[in-house]
Amino acid sequence: MPSSPRDRLPGGEMLRMEGISLAFGGVRALIEVSFDVREHEIRAIIGPNGAGKSSMLNVINGVYCPQQGTITFRGKVRRNMVPHDAAVSGIARTFQNIALFKGMSVLDNIMTGRNLRMKGTVVEQAIHVGRARREELENRRKIEEVIDFLEIQSIRKTPVGRLPYGLQKRVELARALAAEPSLLLLDEPMAGMNVEEKQDMCRFVLDVNEQYGTTIVLIEHDMGVVMDISDRVVVLDYGRKIGDGTPDEIRRSQAVIDAYLGVAH
Ligand SMILES: Nc1ncnc2c1ncn2[C@@H]1O[C@H](COP(=O)(O)OP(=O)(O)O)[C@@H](O)[C@H]1O
Ligand SMILES: [Mg+2]
Repeated sequence: MPSSPRDRLPGGEMLRMEGISLAFGGVRALIEVSFDVREHEIRAIIGPNGAGKSSMLNVINGVYCPQQGTITFRGKVRRNMVPHDAAVSGIARTFQNIALFKGMSVLDNIMTGRNLRMKGTVVEQAIHVGRARREELENRRKIEEVIDFLEIQSIRKTPVGRLPYGLQKRVELARALAAEPSLLLLDEPMAGMNVEEKQDMCRFVLDVNEQYGTTIVLIEHDMGVVMDISDRVVVLDYGRKIGDGTPDEIRRSQAVIDAYLGVAH
């Protein structure tokens, strides 16, 4: 793992969430939350259970539509994202509860991450044989690259349901990477992992960020991990933002200490 501070400078603003409020009936999941994400940075979202972290990722990729606020992604202002738009714009994600096809092989699961990249219908593909062939080759090349990158060659034919939890998480990351995202949303990618699995996942997250320049928004409970790998941190508590800054600033913030870091986890 590279020694911190990392020698990579984030770029300009990629995503800005402004005054986002989201409620489910009487439950206020997010209350006027604003923050930005810069190109190439690793941005962590932390906070106790029920703070609104997963809801925020769901707003970013269009699964939830906020009642208030705006989302500016690469200069385009929206009231809400639509899942298909988000995917086409290069936003990919993994889920807090793994969302893979358990009966399908690792390879087939990763291929589902390429669906959006395939153009045209089956008929079109049959007519434009040349183009379809080129696309097919490109898909295979990318999938093989992701498999090499995440070191999962040996399990490519294994049904996902038979894999240990840590490897399933890695396959889910592989599927997200197959889409060649510019913004990757990771919902607790290291939850439930042992120390070794966590170290591997940390290294992969850093490698993705460094080698592909992928911007990453990461929800994580392990404070050691968060402080080690993130450039900046947003802290949510009961749907409100109570902290926003570098890991050092967050560590020193009294509001954050009181609400979160002070209690044992
Ligand atoms: N689909 C939903 N329907 C109803 N309530 C929800 C839904 N999703 C989240 N919530 C509620 O919103 C709040 C924030 O949840 P969530 O975003 O999952 O928090 P976190 O990821 O920080 O643990 C919680 O009170 C949760 O019960
Ligand atoms: Mg959550």
